[in-house]
Amino acid sequence: MQSFENYDEHWGRRTCDIEFYVSEARKCGQQVLELTCGTGRITIPLAEGGLSAVGVDNSLLRLRTAIKKSRLLGNSPRFIFEDCLTLEIDQKFDAILLPYNGFSIFFQTKEKIEQLLGRVRAHLAEGGHFIFDVTNALVFNWYNPVPDVGRASPRISRINWYNVNGEQGPTYPERINNFFPKEIEEILLNNDFEVVERWGDFNGKPFELSDKFQIYKCRARANTPHP
Ligand SMILES: C[S@@+](CC[C@H](N)C(=O)[O-])C[C@H]1O[C@@H](n2cnc3c(N)ncnc32)[C@H](O)[C@@H]1O
Repeated sequence: MQSFENYDEHWGRRTCDIEFYVSEARKCGQQVLELTCGTGRITIPLAEGGLSAVGVDNSLLRLRTAIKKSRLLGNSPRFIFEDCLTLEIDQKFDAILLPYNGFSIFFQTKEKIEQLLGRVRAHLAEGGHFIFDVTNALVFNWYNPVPDVGRASPRISRINWYNVNGEQGPTYPERINNFFPKEIEEILLNNDFEVVERWGDFNGKPFELSDKFQIYKCRARANTPHP
């Protein structure tokens, strides 16, 4: 994932999922962890909503922005600089969130996905939930309010970034993995997670194969011990 200074001008513009994540996290309990939190786009509203929120990211630049943005909040989140693949926090969470196709970051090798899901399991409280959204490779054309330069394959969308004024920003294309529903089901099953709910949008519509988004709420399978 690239680092560019005006992060919020690019990733930070998405708002369609914020209310969803806050409301789903609240249903799970008080302690919430957001993996790959960036500049706190979701973590900050979680804390504003009264939840005890922790955000983890491996970019100091983005975490500094997050801290700056949340400084004046009464209930500010805790931000942690760490790699999600080796995450070790002395706390368990009722909800662990991986928004905005964050799964894509770790989808380079099977081992990385296993490592990630292992870290999720290790930090879930008994009965806790893992909630994440990914894009659907069956239908996906990069959903973006700014121009799209097309896609290389159903698996990978190539996008260029444009700033808020519509001017082209950084010229490198970003590669985004899209996922086939079956493969997510298999990954979860192979890593001892079961799907509790699956939605096709952030308004709670049950998932259908024609939906752009796949939004999963899962829990660790009961017969596997928590580390
Ligand atoms: C697309 S941004 C998403 C930010 C935020 N979750 C959101 O929804 O706005 C991806 C973030 O993942 C972070 N990241 C990438 N690899 C990471 C890793 N191994 N551990 C922790 N954070 C990582 C990047 O620094 C970046 O802030």
